[in-house]
Parts: sequence; structure tokens; C-alpha cells
Amino acid sequence: MAEHIQTPADIAAGFAPDFLWGAATSAAQIEGAAFEDGRAASIWDRFCREPGRIEDGSNIDVACDHYHRFHEDIERMKWLGLKAYRFSISWSRVQPDGQGAWNEAGFDFYARLIDALIDAGIEPHVTLYHWDLPAALEDAFAGLLDRRVVPLFAKYAAEVARRFGAKLASIATLNEPWCSATLGYETAQFAPGHASRAEAYQVSHHLLMMHGAAIKAMRPHTTTRLGIVLNHTPAYPAEPTEADRRAVRIDDGTNIRWYLDPVFRGHYPADVLAYLGADAPRIEPGDLELIQQPLDYLGLNFYTRNVISTATPPVAHEPPFGRTDMGWEIFPEALTQFLVRVQREYQPPPIYITENGMANPDHEVRDGRVNDVGRIDYLRTHLQAVQRAVALGADVRGYFYWSLLDNFEWNSGYLKRFGLFHVDYATQLRTAKDSAHWYREMIAAHGKQQGG
Ligand code: FCB
Repeated sequence: MAEHIQTPADIAAGFAPDFLWGAATSAAQIEGAAFEDGRAASIWDRFCREPGRIEDGSNIDVACDHYHRFHEDIERMKWLGLKAYRFSISWSRVQPDGQGAWNEAGFDFYARLIDALIDAGIEPHVTLYHWDLPAALEDAFAGLLDRRVVPLFAKYAAEVARRFGAKLASIATLNEPWCSATLGYETAQFAPGHASRAEAYQVSHHLLMMHGAAIKAMRPHTTTRLGIVLNHTPAYPAEPTEADRRAVRIDDGTNIRWYLDPVFRGHYPADVLAYLGADAPRIEPGDLELIQQPLDYLGLNFYTRNVISTATPPVAHEPPFGRTDMGWEIFPEALTQFLVRVQREYQPPPIYITENGMANPDHEVRDGRVNDVGRIDYLRTHLQAVQRAVALGADVRGYFYWSLLDNFEWNSGYLKRFGLFHVDYATQLRTAKDSAHWYREMIAAHGKQQGG
């Protein structure tokens, strides 16, 4: 008998009445207008200009031109029926030097965006740091490598909270500090493109301090919900050998516990500190107390799992549900297991899935349509995975699909497409993909079920 594939209404029925539906983007990936109205360069503007860094040689000067088209993009969010939109503020747009003078024209853009979202009945959820450090801070003192960045970020955070806190549904300090630190400073894939493990861990410590200092600095200015967005890729052993299990434990330590332990328990995992040896960060008295601030929610981004083999040659892993266009394995069950684990081990505040989605090779629009059935499957199976986690006790309150639009996928440039809307970069034309129609139907069904 053929397996019954759940319809959008079936999926909707499995979520609590107040479950929040959203989509996510980030400033560097969609805004464009890179040097307009007083914005200064971020480390990504610079990184894009270094030959060989971005797969298609592109940059973020224009991206999706969202800076000029945000009104029409909000119309698309309305059409989808989104209740919430997660976006980030470009620090160098509102404070070009990362310290000193504010750029009022930059703040005006976000004020207009926030007001337009509220008028459309969509909650604005802001991220303060989605990887785009003002380049001026690299010139002033080596950026994230120097702890002087911590109080500067706290000042910026406080200013955003003071100006916009009353209108925002939530503020996240950082997006995915693991990526900023590891991909930016250890593997050289992301800006600023360094290759030093010691630097990566020093930077991760500074990022976590930035988080703690920002939460502390924002509290007096706002009663909105404050949190952090972490990304985790749970590791699994390729074979049930002691060596694979040990490798999995280290990966789990560096990717997951290195972030959740200090944020929720006030210390770094001892096994990772031992593993790092001389590459462990310099930690000063009071740093860990600063990092462990009370939070109102935890944002978790989930895309894939990591299957680790220590054998030579490594054991080939055949993913039972295939891979996305990024090469990332599709394995929804890892999301269920991970959410349940985080709930049990950390007792966090309410969890929001702040990113989940897939790159699909949907390059063509045919007859006004983009057939991305793979993305519909991904969405459906991951929403089912969230439902199972909730049934097992995980307190998950909302889901933001990554991403609203196809956009600049970091070192892959514009080659990878994660959007619910296809973007033709030559014309900036947006087209709803089949997955957008599916998500819209699911959200509408959820709304109807609440209405009786
Ligand atoms: C996450 C990032 C987001 C996007 C997705 C695909 O790591 O937060 O900006 O690039 O991956």
C-alpha cells in the first residue's frame, strides 16, 4: 500500500493553536544598497572582493535589492500568511565605524521596514549580528580577535533596543556563532578567511561574550524577548566502533556543547578544553558569568546531520533520504532527537526553529512556476520531525523557513537557492515556488483550524 502523504492541512493539525509561522533572511544576503545612505563596508563586502573567495565571483552590492524593494517583499510575506519575519540589522549600516556616530539614514531604513511589517500584521524578529562585522573594526583592532569588540557590540545592541525594542517581537544577539568562528577563522571558508584553530576559539569566546554583554546592555531598554540563535549539526558514527564514537563526541563538543554549555551552564566543556590544549581561548575572570545571562527564548537552526567515519579509507555513507544541492544530508529524525536532547539536558527557555530549509537546483521558472517538490518534501518531513519532538516534550513554539527569497549564499555566491521565492537576479523578478504555495496552504489551514 502506498504511504499516505500528509496534506498541508494534516500537517497544520499537528501544531498548537498559537504556533508561530515565519520565514528568515539576513541583511548581507538580501539587502544590497551596500554603499547607499551612509552604509560602510562589512567584512563580507571585503571578503567578496578577494579573488577566489566566492564560488561565482559575486558580491553583495545589489543582492536581492531588498533595500529598495522591501514593500513588495512584505506583500509576498502577507500572501504567504506569515505571522513572523526574522531579519538582521547590518551593523555597518547603522554605525559605519562599529563605534562612534550613528547613521540616522541607516536606522531610518529599519524603522520603515519594522513599521511596514507591523502594518502588515507581521511580527518583526531581529538579529543583531548575522556575520557582517563592520570592516572598520578590523582596521581599528583586528575585529572579533580582540575583546575590545565586546563593549562596542553591547552599545550597538542597547541602541537598537532603545530605538526599536517596543516594536520588536524578539531580538537575537548572534546568528550561529559556530559559523562565524569556525568557518571564518579555522577553515577560511567565510569572512575574514583565516585558518587558525587557536584564533577560531578565541573568536568564539569573544562572540559569546558579545552575546552576554548585549543581553545585559539591552535589558534596561526593553521588555521584548531576548535570545540567541545557535546552529547545530548533530554527529553520528558511521560504524559502531570506539574510534568513531570518540570522534563523534569531539564533534559534538566543538559544535554543540561549546555553545550551549557556557550559555546555559556557565562553563566550557572540559573534554573540549582538553582536546584544544594550547589552542583553548584565553578566558578572564568574570567572562563566563557575563556569558551566562538569563534568556527569554532559544533560537535553533537545523539543516542536516554529520556522519563521521575514522576508518581509512572512510566508510562511504549513503544517505537514505538523499542530499540537498549543498550536499547536505536530508535526515529529519536528527532534528527530533536533537530538540528532545536540548530540552532534556539544558531545560532552555521556549525554543523557536529560527532556520530550517534546503537548497534545491531550481534555476528555471517555467510558465510562471518553479517545481521544487524536493523542498515540499523537506518542509513536510521536518515539520513532522518538530511535531514528534513536541510530543516527546520539547517546548518548540515556532518555525521560520530559511529563506523567504533565493539569496547570496555566502561563499557559494548566488549558485545555491534556498528561497520560497525564486529570484531572477538580472531582473529582480520574484516567483513563488511550488513550496511557497504549499507553505501558504499549510499556514492557512492552521489558521482555519483555530477559527473553528
Ligand atoms: C545558515 C545561515 C544562513 C544561511 C543558511 C543556509 O548557516 O545562518 O545565513 O546561509 O545557513
